[in-house]
Amino acid sequence: MNSSISESFKTNPINLSHIIPLDFKSVHALPDSHIWTHTKEVEVPISKSICNMKSNPTSYNTPSLVCVPVIDLFDSNAASLVRRACEKWGVFQVTNHGIPMHLMKEAEFQTRRLFALPRDQKLRALRSPEGVTGYGLARISKNFPKLMWSEGFTIMGSPAEHARQLWPRHHANFCGAMEEYQKEMKGLALKLIGLMLGSLGLNYEDVKWLKPKNRSRPRALLQLNSYPVCPDPTRAMGLAPHTDSSLLTLLNQSSISGLQVLVDGIWWVPVHPIPGALVANVGDLMHILSNGQFKSAVHRAVVNEVHHRISMAYFYGPPTDVKISPLIDHNHPLYQPVTWKEYLEYKATHFDKALEVIRTDAQKLYQHTSDDFSFGQWPNCTY
Ligand code: OGA
Ligand code: NI
Repeated sequence: MNSSISESFKTNPINLSHIIPLDFKSVHALPDSHIWTHTKEVEVPISKSICNMKSNPTSYNTPSLVCVPVIDLFDSNAASLVRRACEKWGVFQVTNHGIPMHLMKEAEFQTRRLFALPRDQKLRALRSPEGVTGYGLARISKNFPKLMWSEGFTIMGSPAEHARQLWPRHHANFCGAMEEYQKEMKGLALKLIGLMLGSLGLNYEDVKWLKPKNRSRPRALLQLNSYPVCPDPTRAMGLAPHTDSSLLTLLNQSSISGLQVLVDGIWWVPVHPIPGALVANVGDLMHILSNGQFKSAVHRAVVNEVHHRISMAYFYGPPTDVKISPLIDHNHPLYQPVTWKEYLEYKATHFDKALEVIRTDAQKLYQHTSDDFSFGQWPNCTY
């Protein structure tokens, strides 16, 4: 059991209205509860954000960056490409990552099989208000006034408990695929984290908890996402804008577009699915560890009228008791040390302001509010 995640979630129970997804099949028009109004950001047209795998054009009069970098892990320059991508984008796509294609396909197949089940059957595996795992809306739902056009299924280690509720007799293939997938993702996450930290001049002595002998305790979460076909996609939201709280997230977005990354605070740049590639996202804890040199990217998922999109996000974090603190520029740490659990508490209370709240120079600014916020309490949000 990954106690840092589950303990934090227990102290922040969620209302059922933010757990139970809509009955997507029965609605033919977007209900008011699911209509999102437009914001100041601008979507970059797909034609402007498709790049040659190797090039990084700079000459558009739209954002300063238009195409999420694609990094081939066989490239001898991979470490410096990863570093540049993490500094500029906080996100990149990886190819030649070594995850067997048949496993990616089988995991996708099992994900589709789950979300294709009748609603009543999926609701049998509903996540509890204090729980982490099971079926339901993404946890960030409670931070927004409108509901998202998506459903999810969260797994930590073995999914057997909830999978048995979905398929009393036929859950073995699902469980086998998800367990194997997590094992492979863990290996790749460690490899990429090693590349990222190495590119900053850090090694296992600086980050002792990453040493192979300290890697046994589980500290990851697999989130299966489903974005059903939507009758009015331009006014709906698949997954609202957020950063991931992890160190690193690996996203398999299968073959349908929908993921977008916010660039320069204004441009939503699509991340095009590349067959077999995985999207790597810098999480907030990596942002802290690198003292802000690596950026955790704001991203969201949009929906469409034609295809039912699925994705699989693997969030990797540090062990429960480890304080994450800036390891770059020790003399000027921008962030206070936090454990994953503590950070999730900040995130539950402050959401997109969590990184600002733990800045060392924000102490004074937030002093008066930190006295009256207690962990586990859910404030009224302003969106
Ligand atoms: C996530 C996420 C994006 C997608 O699950 O945190 O950002 O494309 N998913 O599903
Ligand atoms: Ni995310």
